[in-house]
Amino acid sequence: MIKIAPSILSADFTKLGEEISDVMACGADYIHFDVMDGMFVQNISFGLPVLASVRRSTDAFIDVHLMIEKPLRYVKRFCDTGADLVNCHVEADSTEKILEALSIIRACGKKTGITLSPGTNADAVLPFIKHVDLILVMTVYPGLGGQTLIGSQLDVVKKVRQIIDAHNSGCELEVDGGITLETAPAAITAGANVLVSGSTVFHAKDRKGIIASLRSTGAQGG
Ligand code: DX5
Ligand code: ZN
Repeated sequence: MIKIAPSILSADFTKLGEEISDVMACGADYIHFDVMDGMFVQNISFGLPVLASVRRSTDAFIDVHLMIEKPLRYVKRFCDTGADLVNCHVEADSTEKILEALSIIRACGKKTGITLSPGTNADAVLPFIKHVDLILVMTVYPGLGGQTLIGSQLDVVKKVRQIIDAHNSGCELEVDGGITLETAPAAITAGANVLVSGSTVFHAKDRKGIIASLRSTGAQGG
């Protein structure tokens, strides 16, 4: 089953609670929460106080994507503040420190994820594969919504799908960046089962229709 995870980076922050209720009522599966620190990526987005408010406003599954340097410093606080799953970029620290971060997330009773930026090989997931519930492959350079999907990242998605199937069949495979009705089928054919979508969902007039179409377009593509 294909899951849709709207990224609130493209929501109207003046009415964030309503925006989240609306996309959940329109059939979304996860809420994708993009944290940027101005170091790992150039932009700064939002962090713990916003997560606390979002957590109070919804029971939805919150998928936190940490685009921050040395995530080990913060994973416990994101878990304690209400994340259901915390994603750490493999580029953001040494393998040992990322493994330590994943073990803290697990010890908090939350789901674990790792993320690959463009330019990182699919094989980079190997040290983590037994320790993660989800692998996120970026289909744009992290740091900004509304970009165009980088087609060559779908080869990384395919390779990660093969690695998951060979090692860890329960792991989800998420894609993030530039997912539209046009690009979703190829992402699903490549092996993704969770589609993050910021601008496509939040800027749509008919969010219910778009979420349903992303799923069914994907099904035809798969
Ligand atoms: C980019 C973020 C994405 C972004 C996706 O750094 O990780 O989650 O919000 O936005 P769209 O779907 O508009 O490309
Ligand atoms: Zn994201």
